[in-house]
Amino acid sequence: MTTRPPAEIGMPLDEVDTPALIIDLDAFERNLARLPARIAGSAVRLRPHAKTHKCPVIALQQVARGAVGVCVQKVGEAEAMVYGGVRDVLVTNEIVGQQKLRRLAALAHIARIGVCADDAGQVGALEAAAAEARVTIPVYVEVNMGGNRCGVEPGEPALNLAGQIADAPHLSFAGLQAYHGSAQHLRGWDERRAAIAQAADKAGSTRDLLARYGIACPVVTGAGTGSFEFETGSGVYTELQCGSYIFMDADYGRNLDHDGAPTKTFEPSLFVWATVMSRPAQERAIVDAGLKALAFDSGPPLVWDEPAASYERASDEHGRLALSAPTNRLYIGDKIRLVPGHCDPTVNLYDWYVGIRNNRVEAIWPITARGAVY
Ligand SMILES: Cc1ncc(COP(=O)(O)O)c(C=O)c1O
Repeated sequence: MTTRPPAEIGMPLDEVDTPALIIDLDAFERNLARLPARIAGSAVRLRPHAKTHKCPVIALQQVARGAVGVCVQKVGEAEAMVYGGVRDVLVTNEIVGQQKLRRLAALAHIARIGVCADDAGQVGALEAAAAEARVTIPVYVEVNMGGNRCGVEPGEPALNLAGQIADAPHLSFAGLQAYHGSAQHLRGWDERRAAIAQAADKAGSTRDLLARYGIACPVVTGAGTGSFEFETGSGVYTELQCGSYIFMDADYGRNLDHDGAPTKTFEPSLFVWATVMSRPAQERAIVDAGLKALAFDSGPPLVWDEPAASYERASDEHGRLALSAPTNRLYIGDKIRLVPGHCDPTVNLYDWYVGIRNNRVEAIWPITARGAVY
């Protein structure tokens, strides 16, 4: 069941019910504009990852600012994007099982739907689904950049798979999926630069190998919020898949820029709005946002509005804030903003974004692909 929105248009922020997922629209729009500005003049194109926001309203804003389309991870996310009006979607993932493949192929009737493969049997299954639906599906060979998740090894294994795709009557070889996920949160600038230099080397030599065998590789796609400068300057990557840049989160905020200071490229724009529900002691306040309102896989949220407070411990429906100094805030009923540790899985806990400008509700957007895990 979709929950009812915690707010109404025009309502003051203070009246928005909690826990709610709020967007600071000014900060969000600055992030939205900053990435295209940073890559302007380069040859790379932007294909933001919609697994972050799961919301076609946001995807269409990204397209309006020059993105060629979006990425998703799941067929359900692809359906949400296509039905929401996005006409070019890349599933940066392996899709397994006849039911999912049929849904994927059905989407190809109304939009360009790319998908990844890292296995010969899967290429066969994709071909069968595309043939049955009478569509042609662009397929990208996923190459292991060092993250040891999905992906064939660079070089010959990628060449063999690309050849099989190119030969399949209902598939077209579209390029290399070369995302290096484990580089994104390496804290140091130089560490990230070195990791992406290695990835670009692997992707570039694989692309050149394909060319020697007569297989053109139109796209090398990858990159995230933590590394996009390096892929942009690599001369190998042609598309960027950054997702978190629109919102940022506490974990990305710990990455360091070239000057050694915490990154300022993008700013937090996504917050969980929470209420103090108990103040049992001077040094302790309890908020109504716990494990069911925030993702904790990348650590606790930051307390944005009160420097003396840190989010110390979560249980299902409670969050314990520790106060290191006296404050005249955080009494029962007070509301505060928390910056999630990890934006994507936090978004997946909510049905609605509440967009705030000048302390008023300006927008309420459905998180259409919330829970779209199949
Ligand atoms: C395949 C893929 N591409 C791109 C990204 C980049 O996302 P972000 O910019 O949020 O790090 C991710 C994140 O996990 C991913 O899995």
